[in-house]
Amino acid sequence: MDTMETLMSRNSIPPKLLSEPAPSEDTLQEILDTAVRAPDHGAIQPWRFHIVRGGARAQLAEIFVEALLKRVPDAPEAAITKERNRTRFAPVVIVACAKVTTDHPTVPIIEQIVSTGAAIQNIMNAAHAKGFGSFLSTGKNASDPHVKQAFNLTEEDEIVGFVYLGTPKPGLSAKPRPDVKEFCSEWTGPISAAAAE
Ligand SMILES: Cc1cc2nc3c(=O)[nH]c(=O)nc-3n(C[C@H](O)[C@H](O)[C@H](O)COP(=O)(O)O)c2cc1C
Repeated sequence: MDTMETLMSRNSIPPKLLSEPAPSEDTLQEILDTAVRAPDHGAIQPWRFHIVRGGARAQLAEIFVEALLKRVPDAPEAAITKERNRTRFAPVVIVACAKVTTDHPTVPIIEQIVSTGAAIQNIMNAAHAKGFGSFLSTGKNASDPHVKQAFNLTEEDEIVGFVYLGTPKPGLSAKPRPDVKEFCSEWTGPISAAAAE
């Protein structure tokens, strides 16, 4: 697949539709290598990628359950089961974090988060190029202090996303995409609110 074909054909694959085999060690390394090609203002390197595989997935799921029970002590059994099953399907979960520099003179925190988002996109496109599927999710777990603590993150740091990675089940079809022209215009000067309608 050439680069344009890769970029144009990626679709998110929900974790339940991802299964074994996981990428080999070498392929996973190649996929991860693309993450550190993300634009990074000030060369801050805020990214941290935690690879969760095998039995560690169940351990992460238990942390999700504990976090839920801290937020909602009387959470219904169905909600607990949902958390427990979150990491069950995809063979690899990459927890993409930003360890942010809060007092950088020129690079605000948002740029460090954006850099981590760009790194995630590289990972997802690289995975697709290598024949694997992926899904990015956040939900309440991404901002939960108990979950963040498990990744040695402070309050200011962010879990930018959980990237679920695996082999897509067969038979998935591409979803329709909007026409980019709807989102583009030639800017020739300030746009008034009336003209923007
Ligand atoms: C930052 C971010 C967080 C997301 N978090 C969730 C989430 O928690 N749960 C979910 O179902 N989808 C979430 N999504 C949406 C999916 O990752 C995915 O983008 C969506 O299903 C559309 O699929 P597509 O990538 O094929 O367009 C999130 C997307 C982004 C960009």
